[in-house]
This record gives sequence, C-alpha cells and structure tokens, in this order.
Amino acid sequence: MKLTSFGEKFTKKSGILELMDDLGNAVSGKDRVCMLGGGNPADIKEVQAVWRRCMTELMNDSRGLEDALANYDSPQGKQSFLESLAGLMSRTFGWEIGPENIAITNGSQSAFFILLNLFGGTDADGVKKKVLFPLCPEYIGYADQGVEEGIFKTCPASIEILDDFLFKYHVDFSRLDVSDDVGAICISRPTNPTGNVISDDEVRQLSSLAEKAGIPLIIDNAYGSPFPEIIFEEVSPFWNENTILSMSLSKMGLPSVRTGIIIARTEIIQAVSACNAIISLANGTIGQVLTEPLFRSGEILDISKNLVRPFYHKKSIQAQNWIKKYMPPEVDYRIHKSEGAIFLWIWFRNLNVTSRELYESLKERKVIVVPGEYFFFGLKEDWDHSRQCIRLNYSQGDDLVEEGIRILAEEAARVVQT
Ligand SMILES: Cc1ncc(COP(=O)(O)O)c(C=O)c1O
Repeated sequence: MKLTSFGEKFTKKSGILELMDDLGNAVSGKDRVCMLGGGNPADIKEVQAVWRRCMTELMNDSRGLEDALANYDSPQGKQSFLESLAGLMSRTFGWEIGPENIAITNGSQSAFFILLNLFGGTDADGVKKKVLFPLCPEYIGYADQGVEEGIFKTCPASIEILDDFLFKYHVDFSRLDVSDDVGAICISRPTNPTGNVISDDEVRQLSSLAEKAGIPLIIDNAYGSPFPEIIFEEVSPFWNENTILSMSLSKMGLPSVRTGIIIARTEIIQAVSACNAIISLANGTIGQVLTEPLFRSGEILDISKNLVRPFYHKKSIQAQNWIKKYMPPEVDYRIHKSEGAIFLWIWFRNLNVTSRELYESLKERKVIVVPGEYFFFGLKEDWDHSRQCIRLNYSQGDDLVEEGIRILAEEAARVVQT
C-alpha cells in the first residue's frame, strides 16, 4: 500500500502505539500480567458508586437516556455542560470565563492533536513554528502528534538530588530559549511520566515568558487541580487569557467516555470547535451528560479532593515503600519525588542495559512498564539519562503492583554493572 507522508508518519511504530497495545493485550489476554504500563486509572469503589448513581438518575429521567444518545451536540460541546463547568470554575476560582471559553474534545489526547498542530507547523509566512516543552522528559503521547516533522523543541530538566532515594526535575530557565519560531509553550502539570508538579512560581514565569513572546501557554491538567486532583503538593490551578488549560474526565475514572475539556480565550475555542467539526462532527455526549449534575453542584470537587487524591497518595507511598523494600543495595536507583499523577519514575544509574532492554526482559516475565526513552523526544543533544529511566503505573491492584516491583528489583539486580 502506498501512503502519503501523513500516512507514513501516523502508521509507523510509535511509542504511544506500543504502550496502548501492551495495555490492550494485558486487559484482553488470559495470562496474569502485572500491568504497570499504560495510563489506566484505578478502580476506586466509592467513585464508581457515584457513576452508578449518576447513571441510575439518568435512566430514571423519562427523556435522560434518549437525549444523551440520540443527538449530535454542537462541535463545541453540550451547552448545558459548558455552562455548568464555566459556572463552577468562575465561582470557585474567580476566573472570568463563560461557556464561550470552553470546548469539548474526544478525550484530551485529541485536544492535543488539534492544539499542537494549530501552534506547531509552517505558518502563513512560511516560518516553521515549534511547540516548546520546557521540562523534558514529557508525556509520550505528544511525541508523534505533529502532522509535520520536527515541530517540537524540548529543554532538558535540571536534576536535584534529594534524600531518601529521591530526585526532582526543575525547569532550567537558564537554558530555556523562547526563540522567534516558538508558537506555544506546553507543560503537563502534574507531569506524565515523572509525577513532578511544576511550582506556582515556575508556572508564573512560563506564563510571563509566553505573554512576552505573544504565544499561548498550554497546561495539560489531565491529573491536576481541581479535578481529578491527583496532586500531593499545595499548588493553585492557573488560568488567564493567554493560557490554554486542558482537562479530562479520564483520570477521574472515566477514560472510556473520552471527554476532554479545553478552557481558553474565545478565538482559540472557536478554532478548536472548527477542527472538531471537520474531524469528528461532534464529540461524545455521554460523559458530559453523566457528570453534569456533579459540575452543577460542585460535587466533582469534593470527589476529587476527598476520594481520588487520598486514594492515589496512599498508593504512591505504598509503591515507593515496596521499591525500597525489594531493591537490593547494589542497584543504584532514585525515584522522582512523587508530587502527583499515577506514575513513579525510576532512574537507574548503574545498569549495563538500556531502559528499553530492561522493559523487554520485564515483558518476558509478564511485567509491563514503559521504557523512559520515549519521553525524551525533541532534544537537540543525546542525553544518557534518557536511557536510564522507566515509568511505572502504581494504580492497579496492590498484589499486582507489589509483585511487579519485586520482579523489577530482581531484573535490575541481574543487570547491574559490576
Ligand atoms: C498528561 C496526559 N495528557 C493527556 C492524556 C490523554 O488522556 P485522555 O485522552 O484520556 O483525556 C493523558 C493520558 O494518559 C496524559 O497522561
């Protein structure tokens, strides 16, 4: 089959395809697999009870189900959902936004396909614009989304070594170059894969750099505040007219409803809605209908703060304790300070294999992690650190996570440099 350059680019073996294939095979296969790869959120019983309650209310409403299933929404999203969300955010944070500042997408992954290509690629003057990621490593899911090649530029993080087998990345502002060809700055906060949370101060600095350059700051808030609030540091949600805030219902426990949310100034919302119409006509309604009462009442914030956040915080601490328990002293490892998201990012400094090879040997033993290499896209120079890290999703059942970590420790010990 002869494909276009778009076809060639989007059908080649990408990191995100491998990750989602691993996830699909683990879920559908018969063998017991310690699935510590992928980004599946946890089963939180109390939260699932809320979805069941919302669905029951929908079914009991004489037109609820039919209205949810039988109509296309506008390409921007469902008006009543947009109003409820805008009301909640402006009441809670004083943001001056209305429904005209919100667009819905088929999951935030689709939102990023649209946004990264709106701001990265050749512009009307023939300049190839780039999206700048100021804190590399960054989310694997962005890496292959450019329709044009070479539209990403990333800045390696600086590394702070902490006590107790920990380390932390920071934005290295001394190396951050917001050159004329940068079309937008983008961060995930909390960061996938590392669990880092960029501080309020770092966000303000990035925002003012973006404003000076006349470009937007995109904040991927898939794990962030105020929902799903998988964030263990005291930081504030951030939005202003120059910010594009991307949110999602997925990590609340609803990945299958494919509901992404963008909050931005109206011209950006109109641009995203126009793309939605061409790509999808309209987006799925069911996630919006199911959760709208929770946004109207504000309950979504209580669920996030009182159920989702403590659940993941406990799981993160427990997984770190298992790593410390099982990792033998000859393995030189550090865990990125777990400030949010559903992953632990482990840095191995004295293995004589790459993280890709470690991933392969773990897969043989039915433990799935994600090799770190994929998260270092867009770098100008080689960085050996990029082959020394793995990402581990700690949100699955305790027995699987503990067993996976025990096997990881055995494999790491087997390939340690002598
Ligand atoms: C940082 C980040 N952004 C975006 C996404 C996409 O999520 P969804 O399309 O389910 O909203 C993910 C999924 O894991 C993610 O980790």
